[in-house]
Amino acid sequence: MNKFDSILDLIRHSTLIHLRPREISSEGANLWGQLELQLPGGMKDRVALQIVEDAERSGELRPGGIIIESSSGSTAEGLARVGAAKGYKVIIVTDPRLDEITKAKLLALGAELEIVDRLDPVTGWQGTRLQRLREIMEKHPRAFWACQYDTPSNPAAYDRVGKAIYEGLGGNVAALVGTVGTGGSLCGIGRSLRKYVPGVKIVAVDAVGSVLFNQPNGKRLQSGHGNSLLPGNVNYPLIDEVHWVSDGEAFNGCLELVRRTGVFAGGSSGATYVVASWVAEHYDKDQQVVAILPDRGDRYYANIYSPEFMREKGLSEEVAGSYPTPIRYGVDVAKRWSYAPIPHAQPSVYTGDVSTTEEFARDLGLEAAYVS
Ligand SMILES: Cc1ncc(COP(=O)(O)O)c(C=O)c1O
Repeated sequence: MNKFDSILDLIRHSTLIHLRPREISSEGANLWGQLELQLPGGMKDRVALQIVEDAERSGELRPGGIIIESSSGSTAEGLARVGAAKGYKVIIVTDPRLDEITKAKLLALGAELEIVDRLDPVTGWQGTRLQRLREIMEKHPRAFWACQYDTPSNPAAYDRVGKAIYEGLGGNVAALVGTVGTGGSLCGIGRSLRKYVPGVKIVAVDAVGSVLFNQPNGKRLQSGHGNSLLPGNVNYPLIDEVHWVSDGEAFNGCLELVRRTGVFAGGSSGATYVVASWVAEHYDKDQQVVAILPDRGDRYYANIYSPEFMREKGLSEEVAGSYPTPIRYGVDVAKRWSYAPIPHAQPSVYTGDVSTTEEFARDLGLEAAYVS
């Protein structure tokens, strides 16, 4: 039996399970799921705990202090949980896309919610939220901004996970596959795993319409992974290959995952399952591939797990095929499941319609997050 002194110690724990790959995949390596979704609230519990404890150590956060963050989901919940367990006030700046389940949990955990109601036509909800966060910081100058996109505490939270995977699988890990939003989980686990298994292949999963890997900004229904800004926590030189998955492919990937394995998960896990099943086909039976599964499916009841929603949006038929289309990095635009090896230079920013986002990020003082 696992026995923990507190919920915080439970959050330091990690779990791997053996997964059946997609039905259409041919036989290959053993596929393992790194169940971040098994943490009390999902993957960001781990990140929140590391951010808070690092800030305690550095003195940025004092007993009884205020933690503030802009988030529309998992990070908000992680901070609210860690704040509740440690006695900090937590202010979350969010927007009307916050789902009812997460909202109820945040309020129950005692978080104060600042829900912005104006969508900025240029910078979107994320922009309006960051502006409100600045205003609140002016009122509470000693409040601690968690800033998950750029803080080194985010990838550092995963150091122990890489080690646990290495120990759990006896060092025989051929590839690690995971989505990228802030970059913390894939790059944190990847960096740690590479110390023990230098040859492990690191495969990123992004959303079609995300700018993270030299693609133009576009509308997306997938949340969690993908981004319209470039966070400082994406460690590009670490990543060998990137896959872009469309909304329908990611969502149908969730349906395949739960029906074949019993794991009821969110869209980023569905996208990862599709890619990791294919990656595993390229290795022998005695090798292992690890897929990072970030969150549970409950809060996606009205979209991914709603047959009406899937039909209305025309996603029901958008099931991923058995292999991706190879494209040229930074040249072709990914529309459905595609992949490209990453040239091991710093990426230049795609020169399409992402420029407005870039200017906006500079206004917010996020230019350090850009790789030029
Ligand atoms: C549900 C979900 N999946 C995947 C990701 C991407 O993970 P990371 O931010 O570690 O890159 C996030 C990030 O917010 C998320 O909330």
